[in-house]
Amino acid sequence: MSGRLGISRRELLVGSSCVGLAALGGGFAATRAAAADMVLPIRKVSGLEIVPGTQTLDMMSFGDNGAPPVLRFKQGEELVVDVENQLGEASVVHWHGLRIDNRYDGVPYLTQEPVEDGQSFRYRVKSPDAGTYWYHPHCNTLEQMARGLTGVLIVEEQEDVGFDHDLPLNIRDFRMDGKGQFIDFYKPRLAARGGTLGTVSTINWQVAPVYEFPAGSLVRLRMAVTDLTRVGTYAVNGGVARVIALDSNPLPVPQPPEDILLAPGQRADVALQMPDQDGELVTLTRRTPSGQKVLMTLRAVGQSAGRKLVELKPLPLNPHPVPDLENAEVVEFLFGWTPESGPPIVSICGTLGYTFWSINRVAWEGDTPGPVEPLAVLRQGKSYILRFKNETPNDHPIHLHGMSFRLLRSNKRKLPPLITDTALLRKGETMEVALVADNPGNWAFHCHVIEHQKTGLTGYIRVEA
Ligand code: C2O
Ligand code: CU
Ligand code: CU
Repeated sequence: MSGRLGISRRELLVGSSCVGLAALGGGFAATRAAAADMVLPIRKVSGLEIVPGTQTLDMMSFGDNGAPPVLRFKQGEELVVDVENQLGEASVVHWHGLRIDNRYDGVPYLTQEPVEDGQSFRYRVKSPDAGTYWYHPHCNTLEQMARGLTGVLIVEEQEDVGFDHDLPLNIRDFRMDGKGQFIDFYKPRLAARGGTLGTVSTINWQVAPVYEFPAGSLVRLRMAVTDLTRVGTYAVNGGVARVIALDSNPLPVPQPPEDILLAPGQRADVALQMPDQDGELVTLTRRTPSGQKVLMTLRAVGQSAGRKLVELKPLPLNPHPVPDLENAEVVEFLFGWTPESGPPIVSICGTLGYTFWSINRVAWEGDTPGPVEPLAVLRQGKSYILRFKNETPNDHPIHLHGMSFRLLRSNKRKLPPLITDTALLRKGETMEVALVADNPGNWAFHCHVIEHQKTGLTGYIRVEA
């Protein structure tokens, strides 16, 4: 059952190299001779059914002619990925949430040159941490993600924790009309506020899919919100379920699967014990003003396997360094509105031509080769408290590349003691988080509402020896 979605590394390798060989000429073959673990093409796809009964033109995907593949590898092991750009425009791939070597972080100009159409780039993807992550472009990000380029990435624990099945959930909307064709990806008026919501909600590129699992089996739901804009409150209804990890990090105490608040970029792992009766249902819902919207249904089939959640081993903690709060230096970041626009920026990675937002009073100029100053320079190995101050009347999921941080406190609410790479900063909120600056390099730091990211709410933090 999980084989329907849980693509094994072997299947993926075979699948994508076939695509690569069929579609490509000598340049790519030469790279392949040096033996990557996998080839990941970025390409246009057309004719897939997103809105039932229609065929969408001009989508973008990774891998084969379908939704982006789920990438999987083991904690601590390296996956060598040759990204082949067949898109007809420049791109780069970023591995969201991974504490990766800066050279492979996939941010144009900051960590690498954009990968031009017809070129390929070899990424060495490796993670000290296990958990649910995702991957997406960081070039012409709004359009490329809107057209489909968001995929789930799984780093498996070194020791199996005992699930029978694993179901990655790529949760996102598309902005489409009733005929399944893309409409404007955003509206400037909304980009200056909360952002432009999608119109068609999908899981794994399907509207309200139904999956079957053996009754009484243990399923790991890996929710990844890869949407560009939507902050949602999710619930798993039916069976016996617990949230066991948020943003790839195990929860000290598993939580009931209600009120799971997830912003763009965030993830949740849910341990689910399927109902014991054949035909019984479990749903994944998202709260809306008019009630609960069913995003997905799971049906229990056959005789009960009789498994119980207590049979699972607890998820091992990831090896994050512990900040020294006594001696930590405080660094402040002010998230603000920037009403005025400068001259239009020319960038091959795309700009929207507006600036609405800023960090520390500076609006990001877009992805350009020119020198842009870091927002902060941190000393490698030192502990820091980052103070996020939101002066705007909107919520922003604040995301840092390359390092994770611990939530300390907020002026508005009690924060759970989570370790994360993406924290939802509410309007008017000041939040303090802590980290050890242990990963050298230039690390992008931005709001993950892509319209905000692309209209100023971006910068970077430098960690140097
Ligand atoms: Cu999903 Cu710059 O990040
Ligand atoms: Cu990221
Ligand atoms: Cu934002």
